[in-house]
Amino acid sequence: MDTGALRKTATDTPLDRAAILTWLREDDPSRLAELWRVADETRRRHVGNEVHLRGLIEFSNYCVRACGYCGLRAANREIERYRMSLDEILDCARKAEEYGYGTVVLQSGEDYGIHTDWMADVVARIKGETGLAVTLSLGERPDADLEVWRSAGADRYLLRFETSDDELYRLIHPDLPGRRSDRFAILRTLSRLGYEPGSGIMVGIPGQTWASVADDIDAFRDLDLDMIGVGPYIAHPATPLGDLSWARRIAPDEQIPSDELTVYKVVALTRLVCPEANIPSTTALATINKIDGRELGLQRGANIVMPNLTPPEYRLRYEIYPDKACVNETAEMCRGCLQGRIEAIGREVGSGPGGRRRA
Ligand code: 5AD
Ligand code: FES
Repeated sequence: MDTGALRKTATDTPLDRAAILTWLREDDPSRLAELWRVADETRRRHVGNEVHLRGLIEFSNYCVRACGYCGLRAANREIERYRMSLDEILDCARKAEEYGYGTVVLQSGEDYGIHTDWMADVVARIKGETGLAVTLSLGERPDADLEVWRSAGADRYLLRFETSDDELYRLIHPDLPGRRSDRFAILRTLSRLGYEPGSGIMVGIPGQTWASVADDIDAFRDLDLDMIGVGPYIAHPATPLGDLSWARRIAPDEQIPSDELTVYKVVALTRLVCPEANIPSTTALATINKIDGRELGLQRGANIVMPNLTPPEYRLRYEIYPDKACVNETAEMCRGCLQGRIEAIGREVGSGPGGRRRA
């Protein structure tokens, strides 16, 4: 393939959808090496060599939803549910500050046992007692909740749209009764409320086409996102999608794989279309390549990692997908591990909240 289109991106001419699709399907190692090089160079020029650490607190694994892919789905009786207390969360946040992380990400299932005011109090306490940026990720909560938490001081909100293929999305992500799920509408609301919104997708969902992932990457360009998280889909046996007979039927040649290489391509192309975005090298990627998946993500476009701060007794139970990286580690181990990995590839640990750069 002509790398002219790619070279142009190095001088900021955006890749169009057709070029994105061609690059996604590229498998020539020397051309891919060129893609990695340009993505890494684009990352360096636009967001620098610092890798920002966003400490993840998985504070509740209750969920009312029935997502076909996710181990936290309400119907999964095989996991023991938990909700962390305010004090437990504050302890994690203090640890984040002590470790020099700029941000905590408070993540849970879509859990209405997390009351609006209680959550506002958690946010206000963290903002009052630490200098941390607070990112929330609690699913599709009503606009009124998002507004209260923003007023309490929350800075960012993560909500992946998972796939822009509406038919596939509806199949794997059933609506709540009487409430049509529209994650793009929620992302717009988040922007309006003054959050820095984050989003992203899974790569290799059964029934997901190469073309639809090209659309996803194209959609990132228009969304003005602080963070764009891209990870491989990992089958969970206790979910409907874990049983492939349930998946949407598409021609085998149309199915995008969920392997590492494809995820790197999506990360690299995302960097090219959104040069300023914060792009994490995700835990899911580290799960499918425990040796150096994180490092390769960071060398092919990513600039963020999310060390886990969840106390060990809860970690194991936040099983979105099986065999998740770091389930047997402590917060301190993840901190040391990531610092070592970042330095070993010649990058620096970022300081400060690491918010969005605006041109
Ligand atoms: N494999 C990979 N990622 C998953 N997620 C949920 N289930 C899976 C799975 N089986 C991702 C979704 C969600 C994020 C919190 O975790 O993208 O938004
Ligand atoms: Fe958790 Fe490496 S990041 S052990």
